Amino acid sequence: MSEILSVWTTSRALGLSAYLLFFLSMATGMMQSMKGLLPKYRAALHVTHQSASWFAWIFTLAHAWVLIYDSYVGFTLQDLFIPFYSKYETWAMTAGILGFYLMLILILSTDLMKKIGKKWWRSIHSLSFLGFALSLGHGLLFSAKAGTPVNNLYVLTFSILIVMGLYRYFHAKRLANQK
Ligand code: HEM
Repeated sequence: MSEILSVWTTSRALGLSAYLLFFLSMATGMMQSMKGLLPKYRAALHVTHQSASWFAWIFTLAHAWVLIYDSYVGFTLQDLFIPFYSKYETWAMTAGILGFYLMLILILSTDLMKKIGKKWWRSIHSLSFLGFALSLGHGLLFSAKAGTPVNNLYVLTFSILIVMGLYRYFHAKRLANQK
């Protein structure tokens, strides 16, 4: 029982939930910007995209925060929130921490879109691909260390986003050629 509810298991469950929410946010974000979409679908995708982003960040915060209670590594707050600070798996930790801050920047810049302007917002928002790649790399590095089959989930979600990106690109190109 204590193994089921251990700090690491809890943190991993929260991390996986955060990752899946981040994936949902990416997928709905890409879909909502697809040309030729009916407004009612665009609106539903937009709400899902916004909520998934916030929840992904909150789950990530909880995922990192519970590690304070771990006595095996003995993380400090600096280890958990300052890039390159932790001696434990420095690169994997740093990828996660940078992903965490990028997610926050993406969310806040969307809330401040009116103030910063659409052009700046668009440039900042393109960093979402980097943020997702950092989270994916972070998850992959830790799952490779733990030797869990979760790797398949990362490969599947990443492949779905690649296929969606290609579809979106060729769909926009086809519509442009029809004009
Ligand atoms: C402050 C930022 C972060 C810290 C300090 C952190 C820390 C950690 C640590 C120590 C582990 C290893 C747990 C274990 O081996 O059981 C881990 C695993 C994991 N993290 Fe993070 N993380 C952060 C950000 C993120 C982000 C942004 C995501 C995704 C949105 C994420 C998703 C995951 C996942 C999915 C795993 C499990 C890997 C696996 O076993 O397959 N983490 N994280």
